[in-house]
Amino acid sequence: MKTRHFITVVATCAAMVLPAAGHAEPDLSTFQAFGEKPGLVKIMDDFMLRLLADPRTRPFFEKADQTRVKAQLVDQICAALEGPCTYGGAPMGPLHAGLGIREADFNALVEDLQKAMDAQGVPFRAQNKLLAKLAPMHREIITR
Ligand code: HEM
Repeated sequence: MKTRHFITVVATCAAMVLPAAGHAEPDLSTFQAFGEKPGLVKIMDDFMLRLLADPRTRPFFEKADQTRVKAQLVDQICAALEGPCTYGGAPMGPLHAGLGIREADFNALVEDLQKAMDAQGVPFRAQNKLLAKLAPMHREIITR
């Protein structure tokens, strides 16, 4: 009886400590390097100011609902970094389809994003993780 009780206790503890198969915990290290959600909010605030100050990107963003775009970007990036967020905005293709975005415009935006991440002290390794997730979206966003 004693042995059986011991086995039950060990099995219960193991079940509590070990993650269930197929439900591995997300790797939050990159999300944390961005300062989690408050860090992303700061970076997107700074990013939008840079997009509006940059003559290459200002024409696209001056007429946009900047508060909405920032909030959607926070959720989208938070979700891409496995953080506790869900992106509820429009899909990338249809959203950008009518904007006539060229490769040079895309590159200008990425440059401004890098400056915003630098300004908030995001380590290069974490910056590159995010850029690697965003890069494949260029196929949907660049239309001319
Ligand atoms: C990987 C790159 C990009 C990502 C992840 C991205 C993401 C987003 C998101 C999440 C929104 C808001 C969605 C919503 O309101 O439901 C948005 C809107 C917008 N984006 Fe992008 N974007 C990217 C590249 C670009 C580029 C290169 C430009 C132009 C230079 C651009 C111009 C805009 C504009 C003008 C809006 C507002 C559209 C509107 O309100 O109708 N985006 N983008």
